[in-house]
Amino acid sequence: MKETPTPIIAIDGTTSSGKGTIAYKLAEHFGFNYLNSGALYRLIAYVIVQNGHSINDVEKAIETARNISPVFEGKKVIVEGQDIWPIISSQEWGQNASIISPIPELRIAVHELQRKMIQHPGLVAEGRDMCTHVFTDAHAKLYLDAHIEERARRRHKDELEKNTGKTLEDIIEEIRIRDERDMHPSRGNARLRPAEDSHIVDTSDMDISETLEKCINLCREKGVSI
Ligand code: DC
Repeated sequence: MKETPTPIIAIDGTTSSGKGTIAYKLAEHFGFNYLNSGALYRLIAYVIVQNGHSINDVEKAIETARNISPVFEGKKVIVEGQDIWPIISSQEWGQNASIISPIPELRIAVHELQRKMIQHPGLVAEGRDMCTHVFTDAHAKLYLDAHIEERARRRHKDELEKNTGKTLEDIIEEIRIRDERDMHPSRGNARLRPAEDSHIVDTSDMDISETLEKCINLCREKGVSI
């Protein structure tokens, strides 16, 4: 696919690889719009349930995805004037999003919504199928990953702050299951894998600022500028 005139940075990666933080910081650095594609699936799940429907109602899920007009402001997800990100960022809404996300017609509607986010002066889009499916025409494609033990250590730090009582071993197991599900061939186009032309960034031995610097340089090498 030919590159769009508006620059796009697409980022895929494993859970807890740092892709969310890096994507947002890249958007800030370049002054671009920011798309958290997971938040879009979470938002659709939220609207389905808020409207009194079951999360397992496939027809309602498709209808909701086709009719929704999402409002994103940076990390905020605005519904009726209120930022609902603090609500939908929970495990529960992640789970609900994962229930609806495999529906093919829903993914087609979400694909259209995502492409509408290509707006001046540029876009940073993060998720699982950004480089491989939704933004195959991106100017810069990155795939963030880290050793499972390191990703679990990062998540464990957050869990300790939240006092969830989860051990490092619990989290390693959770991440292992999540990786397996995200990468499973049954997910078709939506499965997580590096695109052939993605640059793989291993963040295991890098902190956030080192990773950000590396990613900024990779984007610059691909011609993305402020
Ligand atoms: O990245 P996340 O945890 O916010 O994603 C929530 C769910 O949304 C995840 O379980 C699968 C789905 N998802 C997807 O299918 N494709 C994407 N590009 C992003 C998320």
